[in-house]
Amino acid sequence: GLLPIDPSFKVAVKDYTDARLEAAISRMLRRLEGRTGLEFTRDPADDSTQATLLVQCQNAGKTIPSVDEDESYSLQVSANQAVLNSPTVVGALRGMETFLQLLDADSKGYHIPQVNIQDKPRFVWRGLLIDSGRHFLPVEAVKRTLDGMAAVKFNVLHWHLTEDQGFRVESRKFPKLHQMGSDGLYYTQDQMHEVVAYARERGIRVVPEFDMPGHTTSWFVGYPELASGPGPFQIGRKAGIYDNAMDPTREEVYRFIESFIGEMTTLFPDAYFHIGGDENNGKQWDANPKIQAFKKEKGFKDNHALQTYFNRRVLQILTKFGKKMVGWDEILQPDLPKDIVVQSWRGRDSLIQSAKLGYDSILSKGYYLDLMFPAADHYLVDPLPADSGLDDSQAKHIMGGEACMWGEWVGPETIDSRIWPRSAVVAERFWSPRTVTDVDDMYRRLSAISIQLEELGLTHETYVTKMLRRLARSNDVESLQTLLNVVEPVKKYERGKEHPSTMLTPLTRLIDTARPDAPARRKFAAMVDHLLSDTWNFQEHSGSLSLLFKQWHNVHSVSASMIDQSPILREAEPLFKDLAKLGAIGLETINYLVAGVPPSPEWRNEQLQWLEQAENPKAEVEFVVISSLRQLIIAAAELSQLKNLSPADWKSQIETTATKLNRKPVGD
Ligand code: ACM
Repeated sequence: GLLPIDPSFKVAVKDYTDARLEAAISRMLRRLEGRTGLEFTRDPADDSTQATLLVQCQNAGKTIPSVDEDESYSLQVSANQAVLNSPTVVGALRGMETFLQLLDADSKGYHIPQVNIQDKPRFVWRGLLIDSGRHFLPVEAVKRTLDGMAAVKFNVLHWHLTEDQGFRVESRKFPKLHQMGSDGLYYTQDQMHEVVAYARERGIRVVPEFDMPGHTTSWFVGYPELASGPGPFQIGRKAGIYDNAMDPTREEVYRFIESFIGEMTTLFPDAYFHIGGDENNGKQWDANPKIQAFKKEKGFKDNHALQTYFNRRVLQILTKFGKKMVGWDEILQPDLPKDIVVQSWRGRDSLIQSAKLGYDSILSKGYYLDLMFPAADHYLVDPLPADSGLDDSQAKHIMGGEACMWGEWVGPETIDSRIWPRSAVVAERFWSPRTVTDVDDMYRRLSAISIQLEELGLTHETYVTKMLRRLARSNDVESLQTLLNVVEPVKKYERGKEHPSTMLTPLTRLIDTARPDAPARRKFAAMVDHLLSDTWNFQEHSGSLSLLFKQWHNVHSVSASMIDQSPILREAEPLFKDLAKLGAIGLETINYLVAGVPPSPEWRNEQLQWLEQAENPKAEVEFVVISSLRQLIIAAAELSQLKNLSPADWKSQIETTATKLNRKPVGD
């Protein structure tokens, strides 16, 4: 049955309420209004028996968002009332997000289905990392990210605030940090308080990361005395790993860190504090005779031992300020105290190993959004798979995970499209049971969530046409859109190789407009699959494909003039040419299939060979339709086999042949 959501909709609160809960109810009502076009008022005096949604919250919960927060809730919907029960305000927030997800409609109007939900998260640590170090993100972008996080029940913002390429926090104790290390792009302390409060309102912890001893070039611009190598230093502009590292042998360095961390703990109330610790290549340490002498004197056999010494010193400082230390898996060293948290990014092994050693651990390997993989790849990575080999007491140490949005190639204009909607599937992985793994159903729900995320001001869909208009210098972006629909950014760390770029390079090219997990890949694959599944009706299914191929083919006629008036698009010229040819090949292939006449082996080989070059990235984007088109060509070439094989066997033989010809993925 259904609970109608009509103009009489009312919310009432029973038992406990406070400003945070009331504000969340108000945000929920505004979103419901936006979707339904109905006007809803909230009168605290409303009778709870009459309320459409009754929120029965027991308690405020933790004053400062905490890993121990009880986020559970239940939602019972009957024909005339929905009752949301929760032990804490945060539980109520989670339940209201579910309520919003349930809104549906039919010819009679809007409704919520009658459901009985008992819900709580599988993992306590469900995070998203954003990297303001490499590209600064204005507070507004951070806030809308937090809104999106709350919508999908993430509960940790891991805020990577310092990098070789930027120091992004105002330090009153050491003002040259932000003054000289940020190009003027940093958060004031007031802004920090504002973001932390905004996150708390949404039941989200903010864990700051101050990466050390490596990834610290921007610190050294103002304070070269912290470094292991000779200055002067300049803000880093390139991506990649820098040699610069703090000098772990000098007491002044620890005094500096202590004073700095002391200041930062006044901004970040969370119990955890991230010290990075990753990718210190040791080159500056090796090149410094004083550091070498120190290593010898202390009997450290390698730089890892020296870094562990550094970590211990920093841990002492954090302990003094009542903070728990979090670090990337490089910090893992069995004789460190057990109350630190290890964040695994290099491989699953470090996660398993640290849980076995008794360290609380979080997983990020498999959740790197900057690598531009499809949502499904991330969705199927489980922090604690059934075959983890951990016993119950070890498994308890797996606290959850974090999706990581590293900032080399994202700015405020594009970051939403790299985080959303993909990270929603990671949020689900951290919240829902291990057994929820149906990829098709995930994509079905993901497209619904993607639309809901837009009501929070996220721009992952809307930024596209704006950027296309700027690229084309025109409102007429149809052919550019046709191209964009079928390409994705290059994967892994390929960006910047063909087209050398720095952190100052504008992020406004075609690749920035192209989105990971282009919907066209799955859509086109489904169309081809549909056609090949119904071998007697090629004609019937060929219509929509032919239309699409014609569209592709037609782009070439307009692309030349568009590129002439917009040289930034010059790099797309080969892509337009390829797309036009892909369209032409598609049309020819459809003709063979519909006529039931296979093409000559020469034709088949020529097309397949050409597809190999079309599959190579150009302008740092790659086509997402090649493997499906390859199937279609092979299907046409294998038409005569239909006499000998069952349609299912025929199709699977085609798929196998096509898969073998796919381009090998680029290396790590
Ligand atoms: C990392 O990606 N260096 C943590």
